[in-house]
Amino acid sequence: MKPVTIAIAGAGDRGRTAYAPYVLENPKEGKVVAVAEPIAARRKMTIEAHGIAAENVFTDWKEMAAKPKLADAVIIATQDRDHKEPAIAFAKKGYHMLLEKPMAPTAEDCRAIVKAVKDAGVIFAVGHVMRYSAYWKKLKSVIDSGVIGKVVAVQHLEPVGYWHQAHSFVRGHWGNSVKSSFMLLAKSCHDIDMLRFIIGKKCLSASSFGSLSHFRKEGKPKGGGTRCVKCGVEPTCPYSAKKIYLTGKTEWPVSSISDDLSPEGIKKAVETGPYGRCVYECDNDVVDHQVVNLLYEGGVTASFTMCGLTDNCGRQTRVMGTLGQLVGNRSTLSHYDFLTDKEVVIDPNVETDAMGHGGGDWGLIRDFLAAVSAGDASLISSGPDVSLETHLTVFAAEEARLKGTVEKVV
Ligand SMILES: NC(=O)c1ccc[n+]([C@@H]2O[C@H](COP(=O)([O-])OP(=O)(O)OC[C@H]3O[C@@H](n4cnc5c(N)ncnc54)[C@H](O)[C@@H]3O)[C@@H](O)[C@H]2O)c1
Repeated sequence: MKPVTIAIAGAGDRGRTAYAPYVLENPKEGKVVAVAEPIAARRKMTIEAHGIAAENVFTDWKEMAAKPKLADAVIIATQDRDHKEPAIAFAKKGYHMLLEKPMAPTAEDCRAIVKAVKDAGVIFAVGHVMRYSAYWKKLKSVIDSGVIGKVVAVQHLEPVGYWHQAHSFVRGHWGNSVKSSFMLLAKSCHDIDMLRFIIGKKCLSASSFGSLSHFRKEGKPKGGGTRCVKCGVEPTCPYSAKKIYLTGKTEWPVSSISDDLSPEGIKKAVETGPYGRCVYECDNDVVDHQVVNLLYEGGVTASFTMCGLTDNCGRQTRVMGTLGQLVGNRSTLSHYDFLTDKEVVIDPNVETDAMGHGGGDWGLIRDFLAAVSAGDASLISSGPDVSLETHLTVFAAEEARLKGTVEKVV
């Protein structure tokens, strides 16, 4: 079998570091043969890592899409508001496609993308990586085995983590909903998708509450500066950029604040870049806590809580069925049986699958390449129809939050 050839549109954090390293480890499955990326340092790193020929290097995805088709598949990992146009353009050219989540910031744009990929008949996967991780696959397989009977209700918590909230959703790319996406779409579209995966039924309606409580100008402590490097209260602030980034480490989240990861480069980013700003002085508007209640076919319910003011303890889920319950937090998974009143601890086997997002990043690219190679879209679990459905659930929930209503998922 020939390796699947891949073009990368947007070689930022995800495009360059989430999926592409998989083919360096597994060269029989795929090869990166083209890249489009405006930032020279990122282009260079991608060219060097994959040995890309000069004629296949571009500064904009539009130039790449204008050429005759130069790879079997494209990974689109530009920012949230820059997905629709490349997705439609590459679909028209016949590229199979791995599109980062969220598909797009509006329901209309998501529908347009799905129409384009279906019209083109290409294999399409959305970056809902949790579906491909060992832990979530195990949890789903236990439900599917029938041991907890019929699923009646799910309670799911996403504790984003205080520093992750400050990094990505206050100082970072996804802090401002007009420039990127609202919080439920940017972060929790994974969770709403996962609830659909677990429950295995369509979501019918949603209600939601939530707001931005903490990371606002009013919350700024007395004596605080506009940047952490010049702040009188910095040593007492848990969100201090010095505390988060000047650790001597270079892995994420530090890797996303600068392309220069030398100690000087990181220091400069904290001193002058967006990630050194006071968390109470940013242009963020996305919520820092939100609850969503969902009703599914057959009367199944789910309640979801996202909160940025937590430790970094990982998602926690309780699935309640007619014969038993499952409780999991990725490190542990346990099944309580109502007949025997016994709890059994299940090994979610996470150590075997330890790359980004609990193995989900590599699980997705592995299954995507297998699907393209075999021409078999059934190997993808985050395909166009279900991904559209779960994005529409997210849009309904957000509308419910904004209007204070219960919204149907349509
Ligand atoms: N699946 C997941 O779990 C997950 C996790 C984080 C982010 N994401 C999503 O992945 C996407 C990318 O996020 P990121 O963190 O890599 O962002 P990023 O900003 O690091 O990367 C985006 C890249 O696109 C490039 N770009 C901009 N305009 C371009 C153009 N015209 N042509 C080609 N490239 C262009 C930018 O220069 C940048 O390098 C976002 O939609 C984000 O929400 C998904």
